[in-house]
Amino acid sequence: MEMFEDDQKLIEILSRQNGIIFLLGQTDTGKTTFARNLAQALLEKNKTVAFLDSDVGQSTIGPPTTIGLKILTDPQDLSNNLSNNQSCHLYFVGSTSPRGHFLPMVIGTYKLSRMFFKKVETTIIDTTGLVHGIYGRTLKFYKISLVLPHHLVLLEKENELYPYKEMFKHSTKIKVYVLKTHGDIKEKSYEDRVKYRNQKFYQYFKDAKEQTLYLENLSFFPPFEEFRRRVQKFNVIGLEDPSQNLLGIGVFLDFENEKRIKILSPVRDIGQISLLKLGFARVENFLFP
Ligand SMILES: Nc1ncnc2c1ncn2[C@@H]1O[C@H](COP(=O)(O)OP(=O)(O)OP(=O)(O)O)[C@@H](O)[C@H]1O
Ligand SMILES: [Mg+2]
Repeated sequence: MEMFEDDQKLIEILSRQNGIIFLLGQTDTGKTTFARNLAQALLEKNKTVAFLDSDVGQSTIGPPTTIGLKILTDPQDLSNNLSNNQSCHLYFVGSTSPRGHFLPMVIGTYKLSRMFFKKVETTIIDTTGLVHGIYGRTLKFYKISLVLPHHLVLLEKENELYPYKEMFKHSTKIKVYVLKTHGDIKEKSYEDRVKYRNQKFYQYFKDAKEQTLYLENLSFFPPFEEFRRRVQKFNVIGLEDPSQNLLGIGVFLDFENEKRIKILSPVRDIGQISLLKLGFARVENFLFP
């Protein structure tokens, strides 16, 4: 385990490494800023980078409720909006918080981390700030155990990530780095977080259209009877193609004549949609501001 006080020094060391770099820290420890600065340093060394954003609430790549992966090949890719759709791959979790949704969180992060594993030199994984308590530790322990990052960066203010130092101190696969974060990192309030999330949803849905899909062409998860019983107007839904890739998300509007389902979504190629996954979040507030 190596300790750092200076983030630039750690970035310099990590930018010479290949493999998967997993960032872990409670909220407002500078994970996303560190991830961007590290990606910048790697790109300046002409490396290809996969930026994996597994924060379903304060997401940077896909809309909230999704885990996103973006392939970066040029420092310019970072200055452009990370959430523009090019070279993005998404996984649907369906909630803006990981609580109660650990399976899709862990599976989605793993699936995206392996998608370009052999094609990129470095993958950076940014995560949610849920690290404490039995839930936080369970989520992060299993995620790390499955993804098996080569480098685990613990961003901590004091010694709050002590349990993680213990968990991985004998690992021969995972090298642990501890970065002491400064007191001057600006904390985001609950309201700031809601505002950011709503803006992300609004951006995503601003060019959405009403689309009608035929039930006979679709599969559902959960199975249709349960889906129909549980779904409410403005529930988010994941739209997958036959290869289990997420084409995007939509919101449920209505059923028509027991034959069709009406959704609102920016996904254009609706002929490709073959599976609808029911989410938990509802998004009416900012669709019609
Ligand atoms: N090293 C730093 N020094 C000063 N300010 C910083 C530093 N790192 C981040 N910040 C600022 O602190 C705020 C929070 O940073 P950031 O969003 O990177 O944290 P985070 O850990 O990703 O938060 P979250 O848990 O919400 O995902 C931002 O306004 C950012 O500009
Ligand atoms: Mg963040």
